[in-house]
Order: sequence, then C-alpha cells, then structure tokens
Amino acid sequence: MASYSCYSVSFTAQSFNPNKPLAPPPNQLSRFSSCQSKLPLLSLHLSRNRSRNRFSKSKASPGLLVAASAEKAEPLRIMISGAPASGKGTQCELITKKYDLVHVAAGDLLRAEVASGTENGKRAKEFMEKGQLVPNEIVVMMVKDRLSQQDSEEKGWLLDGYPRSQSQATALKSFGFDPDIFILLEVPEEILVERVVGRRLDPVTGKIYHLKYSPPETEEIAARLTQRFDDTEEKVKLRLVTHNSNVEDVLSMYGDITVKLDGSQPKLEVFSQIDSILSELLEKKVAALGPVAA
Ligand code: AP5
Repeated sequence: MASYSCYSVSFTAQSFNPNKPLAPPPNQLSRFSSCQSKLPLLSLHLSRNRSRNRFSKSKASPGLLVAASAEKAEPLRIMISGAPASGKGTQCELITKKYDLVHVAAGDLLRAEVASGTENGKRAKEFMEKGQLVPNEIVVMMVKDRLSQQDSEEKGWLLDGYPRSQSQATALKSFGFDPDIFILLEVPEEILVERVVGRRLDPVTGKIYHLKYSPPETEEIAARLTQRFDDTEEKVKLRLVTHNSNVEDVLSMYGDITVKLDGSQPKLEVFSQIDSILSELLEKKVAALGPVAA
C-alpha cells in the first residue's frame, strides 16, 4: 500500500531548467530510455479504469513497460496546500509546465468571479478581504465543475488551495475526486509575510514574481506588474489565522498520502523534490498497468 505516509522528505537537489524539455531523473533513465519524449504525454492519455493498486510495487521489465503503457497510464491527480505565500502557485507553474496537468486554483477561480462582478464574486470578495474562507456554496461547485471538464479528466489535475476545510474535502470525495498525493508546503510565518508584500503578478502571462526573490526579467514586464488586493501585511496575517485553524482538519483527511516539504528553500530546490516524487508516482502508475506484449 502507499508508502507516502505523512513524512518530511529530503532529496538531493537537481538542477532544473523549466524551459528545457523534460528529461526523467537519472535513476529512471533505464526505464524510460527509449521514450524520453513520451513521458510528458503519459499525463495526456486517460485510462478510465481506476487502478486500485496505484502504489503497487510490481516491477515489469523496462522494455515491456515502455511498450505497454504510454497510451494507458492514468493521469496524475495532485493537491498542493500550504499557508498564504508558501509557494503553491509558484510550484504549480513549474509542475504544469513539466507534467501538463490542468491547474485548478481555488483563489484564481474566485478572483475571476470578483473581476467579472458576478453576485458570487461580490459575495466572495467580502470574505477574501477579511482573509476568511469563502462559503462552500460558492466554492465547492466552482471547483467541482472545473475538475469535471474534459481536459482535467484527460490530462489529470493539480488542485491548488482546495480543500481548505474538512467539509470541502468530504464534498470532493463524495464527487469521486481522489488525489494520488497531497503536498503540504511548510514555511515559517516570518518568511510568508515578506513573500506576500513583495509579490507581483503579470496580468499578461499570469506569471508570479517577487520584487526580491523572482524579479521581472525586463523593464517592460516590471511596468505592467500588479498587486493582489489581499496582499498586505495586515490581510496576510488574517489569512494565516484561517489557514492555521483549518490545516490539521484537512491533513486528517489525507494523512496516508501526505508529503510535507520545506517550502522555505529556493523555488527550484522545492520543485526538484516535487519533481522526484511525481516522477516516481508516474512510474508506479505505469508499473501498475503490468507488462503487455509490444
Ligand atoms: P489564494 O489565492 O489561494 O491565496 P493563499 O492561499 O493565501 O495563497 P497565495 O496565493 O497567497 O500564495 P501561494 O502559496 O500561491 O504563493 P506564491 O507561489 O504566489 O486564496 C485567496 C483567498 O481566496 C483566500 O484567503 C480565501 O478567502 C479564498 N479562498 C481560496 N481558496 C479557498 C477555498 N478552498 N475555500 C474558501 N475560500 C478560499 O508565492 C508567493 C510569493 O513568494 C511570490 O512573490 C513568489 O515569487 C515568492 N516565492 C514563492 N516560492 C518562493 C521560494 N521558494 N523562495 C522565495 N520566494 C518564493
């Protein structure tokens, strides 16, 4: 059964250039040696048969495995959680770039409603400004609808900032959305405040910057950066209170698939750890299919 019981992981950081095409980690080169370019496509092909033994340790011979599985591997389903500014969005950018998952961010869905001026958006903003959770009747169906779309089903999904309460987790489960893994980014609070006040967003590309840690590449980008309405020291402290009072409840729902990572490391080091975990998870999904003659 799952070896992903709740633990802290320490991996040797590998260098990663998000602009380079995917290459599997060195320890998986033999298994994927003849299909390096196919690996990202694993997430593009949906097997509608939900595998019960997705963490099985079965080991097929590499040749058979490669021949058998690229068309049928189940897509990844990932949850990423953590306090405000723990780096969820930043890691999601890197993960989606490499694994081609559908990024579903509850905060982004809500901000889109706010920007459109809908009734739900107006109501959501009242809670967001106070750093409180937006009521379930607004959030739950919004996330469910996005996860139910064809691209999420086919490519797999990366759920960012949801669920944030036990009731949200229970609702998701009742809809049949079960993650493979729950990643929790842990960052000391004093770092979080600095990250929030320095965060800027590029409205053109959606990219997340930080004035000190990830400055914009050009003057042109710098000139168009925007700041979120809830990115003030005062508001992040309210968001932290909300996070701290809910996080244990959520963890209790995913204890056996939770991985806690030190999110205070530089972003590429955090990503390197996530990348190793996801690569291994994909490998296990492929292995779970069993050998099939070429
Ligand atoms: P949401 O938008 O999800 O905000 P959040 O949870 O407070 O998280 P953030 O988006 O602030 O941070 P992040 O972890 O994505 O960090 P980022 O990568 O940007 O939610 C907003 C509101 O919506 C909530 O308060 C609530 O009201 C409502 N809401 C959302 N989900 C809800 C739900 N499920 N139910 C009910 N209500 C909900 O990084 C932050 C900064 O740090 C950036 O500048 C980045 O460049 C920098 N940085 C990132 N990683 C590193 C690193 N490793 N080293 C140095 N700098 C880094």
